[in-house]
Amino acid sequence: MRYKVRIIGDPILRKKAEPVEDFDKKLRKFVDDMIDIMYVEDGIGLAAPQIGFSRQVVVVDASELVKGEYPRAFINPEIIEFSEETDVKEEGCLSIPGVHEEVVRSTRIKVKYQDEKGKEYTEEYTDWLARILQHEIDHLNGILFVDRISPIKRNLLITQKAIPAQF
Ligand code: NI
Repeated sequence: MRYKVRIIGDPILRKKAEPVEDFDKKLRKFVDDMIDIMYVEDGIGLAAPQIGFSRQVVVVDASELVKGEYPRAFINPEIIEFSEETDVKEEGCLSIPGVHEEVVRSTRIKVKYQDEKGKEYTEEYTDWLARILQHEIDHLNGILFVDRISPIKRNLLITQKAIPAQF
């Protein structure tokens, strides 16, 4: 699949992604391609808008950080519960090269999603998986992690031209 990683400033990163309606062969091929791209780009997660497709598809392989079955795909994911408890960890993003900042996120979330065949699940995730999914699902809603850092740090990144002023 031909693709280009979309960088902050690209309007597609700010759009709400379209829900997936057809759970067909084409979707499964798309998910497989996204997984390949995630590995090529050395990411632990990837959301479809990051490669130019406004669709609610996320893939994750967090095997470096937490044990589990990977790669995994989340179609039409929605976070239905956020824990009040939060923690702070450094994040980066393929769409914001060279920038790493600490982000506050819930340590536990409940996610409703579908798999490639359309089967629905509701599952709870903790720690790194909770963080990665919050980051990736933000992408589907047009939100980037730099939106969630302190205004002072964000202004500094704008001054350093690490991110555009209009984003
Ligand atoms: Ni990202």
